[in-house]
Formats: sequence, C-alpha cells, structure tokens
Amino acid sequence: MILKIKSLKKEDIKEVLNIALKTGASCNRKEAQKIMSFSLAPGIKPFNPNYYVLTLSGKIIGISGLYYDYEDPDDVMWMDYFAVEPEFQRQGYGTKLLENLVEICKRKKVRMLCVFTDNPGALKFYRINGFKVCGKINNYYGNKPRIWMNKTIK
Ligand SMILES: CC(C)(COP(=O)(O)OP(=O)(O)OC[C@H]1O[C@@H](n2cnc3c(N)ncnc32)[C@H](O)[C@@H]1OP(=O)(O)O)[C@@H](O)C(=O)NCCC(=O)NCCS
Repeated sequence: MILKIKSLKKEDIKEVLNIALKTGASCNRKEAQKIMSFSLAPGIKPFNPNYYVLTLSGKIIGISGLYYDYEDPDDVMWMDYFAVEPEFQRQGYGTKLLENLVEICKRKKVRMLCVFTDNPGALKFYRINGFKVCGKINNYYGNKPRIWMNKTIK
C-alpha cells in the first residue's frame, strides 16, 4: 500500500467532494465545488485556498485544505474540508494529513493554525493533536455547535 499526499487536481474534485459531503466536512456541494475550483489557481492567498488529497495505492481516501482568511495576520492559517473516507478512519490517516498541513505552515512561518469544527470525534482528534478550544457557539448549525480551535505552530 503506497500512501501519498498530493495537491488537488481538477480530475480529483468529484471524488473529493463525495468524501467531504459524506463525512459532513461540507454540507454544500455547490459552494465546495466552487471553492475547490478556485483553489486550482497557483499559489495560496485569501480566496485561493490549497487542497491536498491523500491517496492509498492511487485511491483518494482523504482531503485537507489550508487558507488565509482576508484581514487576518499573514502568520495565521485556517484548515478547510478536512476529512477521511469513513472506512479508512481511525487508522492514522487523519494524523498524516494534519502533519502535512503543519509542515506547510512551518515552511510559511505560520504561528497559528485554526479550525472550526462541530462534532465530538473531530474535537477529540484535534485535542489529541495539540489544538485548544478558543471559542464556542451552541446551536450554530441547527443543534450542533460551532467550535473554534487553534494550535500553536513551533
Ligand atoms: C476527524 C477525522 C479527519 C480524523 O481522521 P482519522 O483518520 O480517523 O484520524 P486518526 O486515525 O489519525 O486518529 C488519531 C486519533 O484521533 C482520535 N480520533 C479520531 N477520530 C475520532 C473519533 N471519531 N472519535 C474519537 N476519537 C477520535 C483517536 O484518539 C485517534 O487515535 P486512535 O484511533 O488510535 O484511538 C475523521 O474522523 C473524519 O473525517 N471525520 C468526519 C469529518 C470531520 O468531522 N472533519 C473535521 C471537520 S472540522
């Protein structure tokens, strides 16, 4: 089994969207498709995130993204569409995807990586990986909260 992390390509978008939607990492196919299409332009800047796909022997099993929010300081980055195909969860692949994002943050001299999440499984995953909760709004997505977490990058 060969594990690889590569930049998102146009031909990956359909498969990646299915993973994002089925895991609940996205709830809006149209918007996710739009932003993933923007991301194919070179570079990473506000309104132009970068996405990274995890493949196992050529099959896409995970997605992760990074972006700068406009008006944020340029040493803060955000995670986007972070998900592993359900049948491959709890096998260390989410950790691999996160390690890749942290390496990119280090290269870009980012001091803080932020994420919004809404579910207890992801919350536990992020806590284990050094994120702390810095804000929470209950009943934000229907009865689900919006939880803001951040990790200091050293
Ligand atoms: C969050 C997610 C990406 C983690 O991916 P993963 O491949 O399962 O993560 P790992 O296998 O690397 O997990 C590492 C550790 O995190 C914790 N963890 C991961 N998922 C967990 C869950 N659902 N419940 C409790 N703990 C969890 C465990 O301690 C796990 O180690 P263990 O399996 O040895 O106990 C994946 O669960 C997912 O796609 N969830 C649905 C989409 C989502 O919520 N994305 C985040 C949006 S912000």
